[in-house]
Amino acid sequence: MENRDKHALPVSDALGRPLRDLRISVTDRCNFRCRYCMPEEVFGPDFRFLPKEKLLSLPELERLTRIFVSLGVEKVRITGGEPLLRKNIDEIISRLGDIEGVRDIAMTTNGSLLKQKAQALKDAGLARITVSLDSLNDERFGAMNGRGFPVKGVLEGIDAAAEAGLSVKVNMVVQKGVNDQDIVPMARYFRERGHILRFVEFMDVGNSNGWNMKHVVPSKQIVDMIHQEMPLEPAEANYFGEVATRYRYQGSKDEIGLISSVTQAFCGSCTRARLSAEGHLYTCLFASNKTDLLSVMRAGASDNELRSFIAEVWGKREDRYSETRLTQTRPVQKVEMSHIGG
Ligand code: GTP
Ligand code: 5AD
Ligand code: SF4
Ligand code: SF4
Repeated sequence: MENRDKHALPVSDALGRPLRDLRISVTDRCNFRCRYCMPEEVFGPDFRFLPKEKLLSLPELERLTRIFVSLGVEKVRITGGEPLLRKNIDEIISRLGDIEGVRDIAMTTNGSLLKQKAQALKDAGLARITVSLDSLNDERFGAMNGRGFPVKGVLEGIDAAAEAGLSVKVNMVVQKGVNDQDIVPMARYFRERGHILRFVEFMDVGNSNGWNMKHVVPSKQIVDMIHQEMPLEPAEANYFGEVATRYRYQGSKDEIGLISSVTQAFCGSCTRARLSAEGHLYTCLFASNKTDLLSVMRAGASDNELRSFIAEVWGKREDRYSETRLTQTRPVQKVEMSHIGG
């Protein structure tokens, strides 16, 4: 808390939303090629990923995170690409988690390397992990992840994380006609294991996933499908601005979440800033504009200069893409999801 108290200068954007969360991508690389995120046709062998010298170094990550904390950030989420591909990931977790004022540090991963890394992540101070898994069926999962990676590999990662004492959530992106038959089996499987499963509506992130409203299964339908098999009741939000809407299985403490960015946008309470692996700040998951903090920092800006600069960018923020997506008239070039994580 010391850091916050000394320099506390919480900022709000042009729509009155405070800055609370920082989502940091530590690499733009991934060993999967999910059709909805990094389709092989675009991210194939010739795709040029960031060279190492263009990535934020650990001291730079630490410095920027401290500055964000002084502006109001309390929650940090490490993302990618696939964050477990970053070489010194345990050290990154440990150093960022130790920053005064960081109350919560979590990670989003595809789980493929989790079996080997779970214990080291826990030892480094990670408390929570969210694993993406879209199906329990090898054929469908292999096709969705674009690499034929088997379900078992991810499930073993999830088990290892739980055994290491990490709190686990699972994200399932639902695409109509692709994996909607997996909704109920996934709900049942993760209920039995005591992990919260969240259903994510397929979104038009990036520029290459061929998004169409027809491929979205609205959260309401998902709730109805599960409710018929295992009755649900609504549960209250855990905190202001929670992305997932929660439902509890009646008569138990087990729950699911619905992330309904398409059918019930939640921009009004969006407190999330995103930092790409190359040190660019994005104020929305669907942003077309960015702010190059790396260059400003490497040109010799002081902490105060960086702080004022970030405060100014956040102060002007008006993003609310999910609330306006269906009325957008012009196609815009957006940032890729693998660049800024989820
Ligand atoms: P908790 O901290 O556990 O509540 O998790 P979270 O709400 O931060 O969830 P997580 O990081 O797992 O996000 C789940 C998914 O929701 C992401 O992978 C995205 O697909 C989507 N999502 C998260 N934040 C946003 C956002 O600001 N806008 C939109 N449109 N989608 C988001
Ligand atoms: N729509 C919804 N969710 C997506 N994710 C990646 N691309 C999309 C998309 N187009 C999810 C991943 C993972 C997180 C990083 O974001 O499945 O859970
Ligand atoms: Fe990789 Fe995650 Fe994108 Fe899939 S969704 S390609 S696992 S970054
Ligand atoms: Fe926030 Fe942009 Fe997502 Fe809306 S669309 S919730 S503004 S990140």
